[in-house]
Amino acid sequence: MIRLTINGRTVEVSDGATFLDAAREAGVYIPTLCFHPRLPSHAVCRMCLVQVAGQAHPQPACITKASEGDVVTTDAEELRQFRAMDAQWLLARHPNDCMHCEVNGACRLQNLVSENQWEDRWEKLARGTERHPEHRLTDHTSPSIWRDLSKCVECGLCVEACGASGQGQYVIGFAERGTGRLPVTVFDQPLANTQCISCGQCTSACPVGALVETPHWHDVLHTLDGRRRVTAVQVAPATRIAIGEEFGMAPGTVSTGKMIHALRRLGFDYIFDSNFGADLTIMEEATELLGRLAAPSRHRLPLFTSCCPGWVNWVEINRPDLLPHLSTAKSPQQMHGALTKRSAFARTLGPGFSSGCEEPYVVSVMPCTAKKDEAVRPGMAGDLDHAVTTRELARMIKARGIAFHALPDDGAFDQPLGASTGAAQIFAASGGVMEAMVRTAAHFAGVEESLPLEWQPLRGVTQGVKTAQIPGLGKVAICNGIATAQRLLETETWRDEFIAIEVMACVGGCLGGGGEPKSMDPQVLEKRMQAVYSIDKQAPRRRSYENPDVQALYAEELEAPNSVQAHALLHTSYAARNSSRLLLMRFLDCVDRRDGSSAARLCHPDVVWQTASRHGDLHGALQIQAFIDTQLPPRRYGPAFLRHTMASAADPEDLTVITPAGERCAFHVEAELAPADGIPAMLIKRLVRIPGHTSIA
Ligand code: SF4
Ligand code: SF4
Ligand code: SF4
Ligand code: FES
Repeated sequence: MIRLTINGRTVEVSDGATFLDAAREAGVYIPTLCFHPRLPSHAVCRMCLVQVAGQAHPQPACITKASEGDVVTTDAEELRQFRAMDAQWLLARHPNDCMHCEVNGACRLQNLVSENQWEDRWEKLARGTERHPEHRLTDHTSPSIWRDLSKCVECGLCVEACGASGQGQYVIGFAERGTGRLPVTVFDQPLANTQCISCGQCTSACPVGALVETPHWHDVLHTLDGRRRVTAVQVAPATRIAIGEEFGMAPGTVSTGKMIHALRRLGFDYIFDSNFGADLTIMEEATELLGRLAAPSRHRLPLFTSCCPGWVNWVEINRPDLLPHLSTAKSPQQMHGALTKRSAFARTLGPGFSSGCEEPYVVSVMPCTAKKDEAVRPGMAGDLDHAVTTRELARMIKARGIAFHALPDDGAFDQPLGASTGAAQIFAASGGVMEAMVRTAAHFAGVEESLPLEWQPLRGVTQGVKTAQIPGLGKVAICNGIATAQRLLETETWRDEFIAIEVMACVGGCLGGGGEPKSMDPQVLEKRMQAVYSIDKQAPRRRSYENPDVQALYAEELEAPNSVQAHALLHTSYAARNSSRLLLMRFLDCVDRRDGSSAARLCHPDVVWQTASRHGDLHGALQIQAFIDTQLPPRRYGPAFLRHTMASAADPEDLTVITPAGERCAFHVEAELAPADGIPAMLIKRLVRIPGHTSIA
């Protein structure tokens, strides 16, 4: 241990502690901007400068190690002047348009300016585009992440979060030096064209508004205020244990009741629980696992969980050879959305769900930025209208002046799509999906009696692989974070060792998700995790198959897990990025939703679509757009909305499709690289439905 003095207070800290650690121990506030408790600091902002007796120059407290007997001052006038100088430099390069910024009110630079009453006095300095005009400052191409590098303070936290100290994806890196330094993507590509998996960890780390989740909360408020459609919202398990942090509550405070009241005050007609979808995911995934275990070949084992879209993105981008291993079960968000919009079950809920001519407006609140990306995946687009993050929900609540603290704790979800078990709640934590699946798979396999309900080896938020041998089933593994999964997959022993592998792209699982409140508490993941397991412990039912409303759904509509009906609503397919299969899936998805303009954007201007139907051949993107918008029968809603589906879930070569009329037909796709909206993209040049099959409509 080391003893030192900070602002006259003596404090004892362990060897290796920084002045910042020591100050926190002593209850002394030191301002920081480029520091994050879970990422390495590069000490670039100089906000944390402190004076150490006997040293000629101030030292950055975030990286300087304390020594025995140090005497430290944090609030001398000279230090305040240094900070003000550094702040002037930052402000001179910052747009300072806080009123229009997505993190207005939640920005660490803005807080520092306000605390210190710094003025923006220097002449404006342009960001590094003059010498390097190729650098893209504004990028709205990703469905999940927006970049505005004119606001960047060069802290480097996004580079660490995406790269070596976090996700291991290395999508963002610094280019240029000195005043031109910018965190750019590989080859300055728009984010949508990179290896980005949409996990949002960079947005979580960014102290300002340079990296944010693609905002949808404005649209949601606008629709709610319009009151023209029946509105429904579903909320993820990780949101209820973190939303309180946005209102000053301690991490791990369970705010389910307050959150439900807040959603009602925002104007939602129905408040549902994504946990209902999680119980359903378990029913489908556990059945799928047992089916694969019983199959003569092991080629689709181990089964990979598929409820994390960051992980699914990673497989599609980097290892499409592994796609057959992914469970075809949709995530809880997508299952719940499909049920709310399209099941006969939901139509018993009331007017608006039963008219059949207008869809309810469905929103999800998620801890996750990748869920925005998932919500527009082909084959699932339209299952819900918008996915917003926990942070966005907080912004909506603040924008409407709702006093979250003062709300009662007794809010309750609407039924039946709001009923759930403890197994669904633990989805929020790394290891939770697997533990929930084991509970139900053990029941289905008839080995439940001999097994414990809780699987401690599968729990924990420390990065790495967790494993457990489940008697009667086999060995399972948890990859806590996408970087861990990458390392496990390099070994190749995983193929024979495990029957199932859970991968959650964010460390800690969704409770460390890129859409959760930003926290400077180093223990935040542990605290949120304790809350998750305490909810499970107190739940009256803790196994997904015990959910009475899930049982009713199977009895009334879906018959059984993995049935044809269940597959139509609750399962999906995958495709490698930039593949013909993906282009075809996207195109048919646009056809199903009668979205001619999006279909046209997937097509080369000289495209030919051989429909092999009475409609003949269609030439050019504009003709295709007009055909979809005006010639096809109007889109139907509710259970009458049927989609094209891929005949195989993940075979990269298979372009066989089951049409909404239930017929199989083959397609041939030719694609060419061409600019689309100014960005190079693979576009459909020729699309052929193989003659001899059925009509397209
Ligand atoms: S969203 Fe994730 S993968 Fe994409 S740039 Fe950010 S940290 Fe990297
Ligand atoms: S984009 Fe944000 S996180 Fe990345 S360097 Fe700039 S300010 Fe830091
Ligand atoms: S771990 Fe959770 S929050 Fe993170 S990308 Fe996956 S689903 Fe989203
Ligand atoms: S917080 Fe220490 S230099 Fe930025």
